[in-house]
Amino acid sequence: MKKGSTGFKPENFSQPDLPSTWKAMEALYDSGKAKAIGVSNFSTKKLGDLLSVARIPPAVNQVELHPQWQQPKLKAFCQSKGVHLTGYSPLGSPGTSSIKGDVLKNPVLALVAEKLGKTPAQVALRWGLQSGHSVLPKSTKEARIKENFDVFDWSIPEDLVSKFSDIKQERLLKGTGFVNETHGFYKNIEELWDGEL
Ligand code: A2P
Repeated sequence: MKKGSTGFKPENFSQPDLPSTWKAMEALYDSGKAKAIGVSNFSTKKLGDLLSVARIPPAVNQVELHPQWQQPKLKAFCQSKGVHLTGYSPLGSPGTSSIKGDVLKNPVLALVAEKLGKTPAQVALRWGLQSGHSVLPKSTKEARIKENFDVFDWSIPEDLVSKFSDIKQERLLKGTGFVNETHGFYKNIEELWDGEL
């Protein structure tokens, strides 16, 4: 944020200074105040830029990940650099007013769930684990929390996993609140996500 600015508006965001911000994070790690340091919403480009200046590489990159936003390029990059990838909105955040994804209604999930006798939510989470990233689902209901944990002793067979590549891809959290054509550091969402849309 620009010094002295108030409010969450694109014109109040200053130019991000990745090297000095990360240096401050590394100092927190060195002092023992943080056990691990990581990033969120980093594109392949931003992560590459960070890795080129980091003394301590980020332990994790937390990004939007679910069957309708699979991010294969970012996944491969994180794997090649040893940065753990973890997914927020793994169920498409159906209850969040600004997102309201329909991931759980996806026909591929419905088909796989029916074949395996699981719920679409369990299929979405199991797909994430089998893809090699961790998942961060949330629920306010005990029964669903239990349902969401019940994804470790079964797997989606390969012939059904291949169906996930047919799913139309779309980022749900577009970040439009961070961009402004006139006043923003990022003029549009293509710039914000480095074209990874
Ligand atoms: P609720 O709290 O009423 O269970 P995400 O983790 O992708 O952000 O999604 C969280 C949303 O998904 C919440 O609105 C939550 O609602 C709902 N949710 C969590 N677990 C399940 C589930 N197993 N089946 C259907 N909806 C779920």
